[in-house]
Amino acid sequence: MTLTLQNPLDMHLHLREGAMLDSVLPFTAQAFSAALVMPNLKTPITTTDLALAYKKQILESATKSGYTDFMPFMSIFLTPSLDKNELQKAKLNGIRILKLYPKGATTGSENGVSEILDDKTLEVFALAQKLGFILSIHGESNGFCMDREFEFLRVFKHIATNFPELRIIIEHMSDRRSLEVIESYENLYATLTLHHISMNLDDVCGGMLNPHHFCKPMLKTKKDQQALLQAALNAHPKVSFGSDSAPHLESAKLSPKGAAGIFSAPVLLPALAQLFEEHNKLENLQAFVSDRAFGIYGLDSANIPQKSVRLVREPSIVPSKINIPFHNMGDIVPLFADKILQWRLD
Ligand code: DOR
Ligand code: ZN
Repeated sequence: MTLTLQNPLDMHLHLREGAMLDSVLPFTAQAFSAALVMPNLKTPITTTDLALAYKKQILESATKSGYTDFMPFMSIFLTPSLDKNELQKAKLNGIRILKLYPKGATTGSENGVSEILDDKTLEVFALAQKLGFILSIHGESNGFCMDREFEFLRVFKHIATNFPELRIIIEHMSDRRSLEVIESYENLYATLTLHHISMNLDDVCGGMLNPHHFCKPMLKTKKDQQALLQAALNAHPKVSFGSDSAPHLESAKLSPKGAAGIFSAPVLLPALAQLFEEHNKLENLQAFVSDRAFGIYGLDSANIPQKSVRLVREPSIVPSKINIPFHNMGDIVPLFADKILQWRLD
């Protein structure tokens, strides 16, 4: 049995730089036509020039590994000092996504915004709205870790109400209470990861601690997982797939300051096919991994590499580790390492 997906899109992806980029990019480039690349590098992508240089790096890396049919969509990191002219320039250069991290909320968010609703930030939102940007937000408060997304919903509601023409994305939606909010506000949308629909907090610390399942926002309750899974299985009209695949070296994951992030890129489409098949919803996978994003982000398929991705229903084993050969940097442990999946990429 086979399954063919047209132009899969990953609308939330961490690719990193240098040797790490070279090692992780092929997993995405072989399975997706395009991906929205996050700007939280060590030197965050805060300007158009940095974004264009990063795009060039990504395209060169893809070409080196034989993929000339992959398109990175670039995003700009919203810092408190973001210059208005910079936004205009970004727009002229085809960049349409502005990414907001609350300061300190997650990996690489040190340069994020601490006063999200202050006048200066609201001015940036106004200009973003005028220029037709999409505002992608890592929506977490600094409260109790299981309630952070819920507590942040008031900020989403405030921005959505005050900027009705601005499309706003709740990135990596993790809490079932967010679903009601995207359903009540016309200009609010969300991305959903594989890990938040296939796991819950028990998979992090219900047995032995599993640092490879530690991410931000944290995996939540079974009820949250189930509600989010239903949204994915039914290809919720306001939800796009965004993996939030976030590679960290195994040494960083296992260190006492364990890094947040799940490296899911090597398993995404086979694991999603398995999950959708288990729930008799395979017919909705195309909409979840591609069609919804075309609508929500207003993408034009003429500007995206055309890709038919074939999956075969045959068991495949997920590698234990992905080695980064450059100067023996170390390994990255993928999601579902050593597990058998029922589908594989052709
Ligand atoms: O778990 C996460 N890892 N969440 C994020 O928001 C960032 C990401 C990363 O960059 O490692
Ligand atoms: Zn992310």
